[in-house]
Amino acid sequence: MKEILHVSCSPRGNASESYRLSQKIIDHLMEREPEAIVVKRAIGGAVIPNVDENYAISQQSSADVSKDGSMIYSEQLIRELESADFVVISTPMHNLTVPAALKAWIDHIVRARRTFNVTSAGKVGTLQDRPVYVAIASGGRFSGERARQPDFLTPYLTTILGTIGLHDLTFFSVQGTGSGPDAIAQSRAITDQQLQAHFYSALLTL
Ligand SMILES: Cc1cc2nc3c(=O)[nH]c(=O)nc-3n(C[C@H](O)[C@H](O)[C@H](O)COP(=O)(O)O)c2cc1C
Repeated sequence: MKEILHVSCSPRGNASESYRLSQKIIDHLMEREPEAIVVKRAIGGAVIPNVDENYAISQQSSADVSKDGSMIYSEQLIRELESADFVVISTPMHNLTVPAALKAWIDHIVRARRTFNVTSAGKVGTLQDRPVYVAIASGGRFSGERARQPDFLTPYLTTILGTIGLHDLTFFSVQGTGSGPDAIAQSRAITDQQLQAHFYSALLTL
């Protein structure tokens, strides 16, 4: 049975725009994999603690100094990721990049000697690649002709998830949520078309 890991990062929970968009992605995946189970990891707000002292020491040495605290949590989050066939991350843009909650999750899953190894050629990921869908909501626009701010979110996620071996990333977004209901409706409609195009062409290649 296939597994979809849904990591939702908005402090607004299920009412958030990014969650709404991610649910559409999951619906499309479920059409393709009707038996799939969805594992929910809601991390919006301050649910995930920052990594602790022993974890930080381990990351700058050649051995793990602890099997407690953040190490336990890190292991749990990594195993969740490892057992997923698809990963769906829903996230708002906060201050041009990922929100603190998503960064805390990343600090736990990107772990030396576990999800990547340091080699003479640089960091090499250990995870098997799998499709990762990222659903983003932003108050302003960060892509296209009307973008008025830089985007440190999509390049960052691409690089950091690539570090652990996850390269098959697809981004969808609802941008301009701060511009009123008409702008949101328009942005949602454009994204719906992109979802249709993406998942319809994926079905054709099955
Ligand atoms: C702390 C904070 C920082 C934000 N920074 C940005 C930003 O840099 N760029 C942007 O376009 N929107 C920014 N926003 C607006 C959110 O991205 C926007 O409201 C989005 O629709 C929230 O998505 P959600 O409903 O999934 O939480 C910020 C919101 C908050 C709370």
